[in-house]
Order: sequence, then structure tokens, then C-alpha cells
Amino acid sequence: CGVVGVAGNDNATEILVHGLEKLQYRGYDSAGVFIDSEKGPDFLVKTTGSIADLRKKIGPEVQGTSGIGHTRWATHGGVTIENAHPQFSDDERFFLVHNGVIENFQQLKNDYLQGVKFHSQTDTEVVVQLIDKFSKEGMSTKDAFNKTISLLKNSSYAFILMDKKEPNTLYVAKNKSPLLIGLGDDCNVVCSDSIAMLDVTHTFMEIQDGDVVIVKPDSVVVIDADNNVVEREQFEVDVDPSDSEKGVYPYYMLKEIDEQPNVMRKLSKKYLDENGTPVIDEKLLDVMKNSDRIYIVGAGTSYHAGLVGKKQLETLTGIPTEVHVASEFAYEKPIFSKKPFFLFLSQSGETADSRQVLVNVNKDHYPSLTITNVANSTLSRESDFTLLLDAGPEISVASTKAYTAQIALEAILAKALGEHLGDQRAQDFDLKAQLSLVAQGMQTIVDEKDKIDEISQDYFVNATQAFYIGRGIDYTVSLEAALKLKEISYVHSEGFASGELKHGTIALIEDGTPVIGIITQGFTAGLTRSNLMETAARGAKTLTIVRKSLAQDDDTFVIPDVDELLTPLLSVIPAQLLAYYTSLNKGLNVDLPRNLAKSVTVE
Ligand code: G6P
Repeated sequence: CGVVGVAGNDNATEILVHGLEKLQYRGYDSAGVFIDSEKGPDFLVKTTGSIADLRKKIGPEVQGTSGIGHTRWATHGGVTIENAHPQFSDDERFFLVHNGVIENFQQLKNDYLQGVKFHSQTDTEVVVQLIDKFSKEGMSTKDAFNKTISLLKNSSYAFILMDKKEPNTLYVAKNKSPLLIGLGDDCNVVCSDSIAMLDVTHTFMEIQDGDVVIVKPDSVVVIDADNNVVEREQFEVDVDPSDSEKGVYPYYMLKEIDEQPNVMRKLSKKYLDENGTPVIDEKLLDVMKNSDRIYIVGAGTSYHAGLVGKKQLETLTGIPTEVHVASEFAYEKPIFSKKPFFLFLSQSGETADSRQVLVNVNKDHYPSLTITNVANSTLSRESDFTLLLDAGPEISVASTKAYTAQIALEAILAKALGEHLGDQRAQDFDLKAQLSLVAQGMQTIVDEKDKIDEISQDYFVNATQAFYIGRGIDYTVSLEAALKLKEISYVHSEGFASGELKHGTIALIEDGTPVIGIITQGFTAGLTRSNLMETAARGAKTLTIVRKSLAQDDDTFVIPDVDELLTPLLSVIPAQLLAYYTSLNKGLNVDLPRNLAKSVTVE
């Protein structure tokens, strides 16, 4: 979910709605705003559906100077108007937006709110009803807010509360979920991500877990968990808001796929000097050099990029590397080596699952690096080192350019560390030349859109299931390829180790099931081809993504030859485009697939 708030601006409605549009990547199943002013009426507008639907529902009379807004990714309670935020107290005095999960909400309801009438099934409503209860018992709003927060156990929250009796004040609190205060001229704003408020300000204040903040048009007071008034660091966000425009493209996803050659060039320019020597912070390399094991942590596509990073790091540095799904790693940690190093991969830098691992890592004082696309994001701020992908905003929910940027940057890091360790393979690896070949290769593949569109229509639009198979590094890409297809076209798809298919899953192959083999490694090419034939013998329609030096006459997609550590950068591109066209040809909303959010900020 995403939250926004504004205190003291005549344009409050537009600021909130525009902010929510920018936060849709955090969820878009329902939305709402509450708007108020010192004089004049207040307004509560909620809708199921996207921010475009909310915009349509907001009439011209909905104006005020302060307000709060929310875009939802449902956790507690289905997608209904009642469950959309802002949630409000029974007497409609307090209004609250929330990103996070209140774990003990049922207990609180039983203990404190017997007999209170509830309008929704959300955990959030319990919080606002509690505030109301304590206020009715005689507490000030601030004390009622603090008291309620003190009762929340194991919970994550970014709250913005409004009290109708003080229409220009926002009560703000944060734990685990990201939240920033934006400092404007004559007004202040609150947001889950700075991107929401760049039209108002570029100056933001980072607030910490446990902080409570009172935001008024002309003041921001931060109170820490020990009840002291504290100053928090400010930072400038230097992003061009127009970078996140779609331009001539029908969907962001296609734009982002097309941007990949340029992202490769930019990364090469930024992190490799003219001689191809990596330009990476020496301190980071020293810390990594001293580690005996690297633990890569990520979710979704970032996890898949980590699987490729393992191969690159182990090959070029010799340091054993493990890759973990963040949500598992946070609560099922393996026995660590003596000197572990943690590498977080996250496009957004906000994923709650990954952040929880980082909280644990910081508690244990282990060193960490975040590779992310978003400067000043939570993971970036809270880890020891950051390397930025600089891929430009990725808006489409299905990640494309962040995946390839992560893989390219992991290769640069692996080469830098390998050279630091004196590894010959790392020294001989001409990454600058290779990334240039990759960029050219990507360009040739993205220029083949018509062919991919046709294949999508012939094989995928009517398919109920599909498989990507491969071995080694190609298996890791098959996981990502299948994820792309399933998340935006809703064709059930799996990535599989080609040799493992015959041990059970081959039972699912039916007449016409598409099975795509990814083949970029000579020593397993023959085996994967045999596995493909096994599926064809059972009715599958087989297709291939093969590197040029291994290609045969009837291969479907032939991708240019590049170093084996970089083949995923090319083999994934036809899969990204196949997913795109399948979604498009099925008439779906490519950028905003059902049930998903681009950045999931709850565990
Ligand atoms: C969500 C998105 C995925 C993404 C994952 C991790 O589930 O839908 O596309 O890969 O989060 O996001 P991150 O920002 O941490 O890379």
C-alpha cells in the first residue's frame, strides 16, 4: 500500500491524487482520500479500482487545505469500499491511512473495543477506533495516538491520522513500513516514497522506526521512541519527474524492455573506466574480501537476479555464495559462516521481506551492501554500502530492466572483487567489451518484436500452462521467464530444471503445452535438447532460445554469443517480450496485473 498526506496547501486534493498515482506501484486494488480545511466542509471519497477511478469519483467541490490518501494492496479484508482507506472512527472524527499489518488487531479488538460498531474487516479500523476510545476517555489526540501505538505488537505501520477538530495537523507514526516527511514552502507533506511528492518538494526527512511526528503547515516535530523531541536528517531527492512518463509507448513494460540496451551502456560507463577497470568503492571491496561467504537476499525477480549473481561471484572470486528468498531467510536462517557478507538485491529498496532480513543483519552487526534502483530507499539507507542501478524509474509491475541491470552490476562487482583478490579469470574478463556486445545483442532481439508477437499468438494466448526449462544458469533464467509470463498473462507457467522434469512434472504435459528450452551452455545443450524431445513425444509444442554458436536450423530464437556469465542478459529478452505480447493479445492491463503490487511493503 501507499500513503500520502498534505498539511496546508490549497491544492491538497490534486497533490494527494497525483501522489497516489505515483504510488500505484505499491498496490492498486482500491483507494481513497480524506480532505479537510479550517473553514468549509470535509470530504471522504473511496473507491475500489485504481486511482483513475478515484479521480473520476472526486467532484470539483472536493477541495481543502489538508488531507490524507491511500492506495491499497489488500491484506486484511477483501477489496471493498468499506475496506478501502481512510478508515474512520465510529463518530467520524478520526481518519486514518495505514501501510502495514497490525498482528495483534484481533486481541486489541477483544480487549478494548467490545460493543463498538465496525464498518470494515481491516486491522486498520481497530487502530482508529482505539484512538477514538482513548480520546473519549479524556486523552488529547496526541496521547491517544501514542497510547494506541504502544499497544501494537509485532506490527508494521506507516500511519497518517487526521482529527476533524484539528484539520491542519497530521499525526504520523512509523515502524518497519517506509515513510518520509517532505518539507515544502508553506506546507508539509508525508509519503511512502518521495516520488509521490516531487511536484511539491525535493527536500525530505527520513523518520525512524518508533518515531511519532506531528506535521503542520509550518512545523514538523519528531518525537522518538523514548519520547524525546529529535532532529532527523534531511536529504535532497534529485529525480526528474518526467523520467517516469510513458511517452509514445502503450505500456511502461514495453518502454522498459526497450531501454535495456541503454541501461547496459550506462552501467558500463558509470562503473568501468576507459580501460575497463571497475570503479567500485575500495572500502566495500576490502570488506567483501575479508568475508568467507556471501549471502545474497532478494524477492521475486531480484531473487532470480541473485541466482545469476551467485554463479558470477563464485566464478570470478572463488568466495562461496548462497542465494536466499528474503521471506524465508528472515525466519529460517541457516548456520552462518564465520565472516558472512550480505548482499541485498531490490529494485525498489522497499520490500518488507528483504528489509526484515537487513534488520536482523544489522542487529548482528554484519556488513551489508544493497544493490537497488532507488537512491535513499529504506534498504539503501540502512545497509553499509549501496550500488545504484541507475536504470531510471521502473514503473511496470513486471520487472524487466531492473533484472538485467542487477545482473550486469553483479558482474561488475564480481570482476572488481575478483581483481581485488588477484583472480586471473576476473582480470582476463573483458567486461567492458562484453557489455557492449550485450547492448548490441539486446537491440537485435528487441527489434524482433513482430516475430515474438506472432509466436505469442500461435502458442501462448490460448495456452492454459507453459514451461520454461534449462540447466545451470539457463535454469535460473527459466524461473524468471516463467514468472514474467504468469504474472502478466495469467498463463500458469513454471521454470524447471530440464533434467528434473521427468521426475514428476512431465505428467502435466498435454497436447499443445508450450515448452521452451533455454540453451546457452555447450556442455548441457544436448541434454536439454533431449529433455525437450521427451516433452514433444508427449504432445508438447517445443520452442527454443539458443545462443548462436549452439544453434540448429529449427531453433526459434537465436541470441548472439556473449560470455557465459552474461548469457541471461540476452536469453531473458525474448521471454520478457513473449510475456508482454501474450498479456497484450489477451487484452489485459500489462502494467497493472491483477492481485499484485510492484513493491510489497508488508511481510
Ligand atoms: C514484488 C514485485 C516483483 C518484484 C518483487 C521484489 O513482488 O511484483 O516484480 O520482483 O516485489 O521487489 P524488489 O523491489 O525488492 O526488487
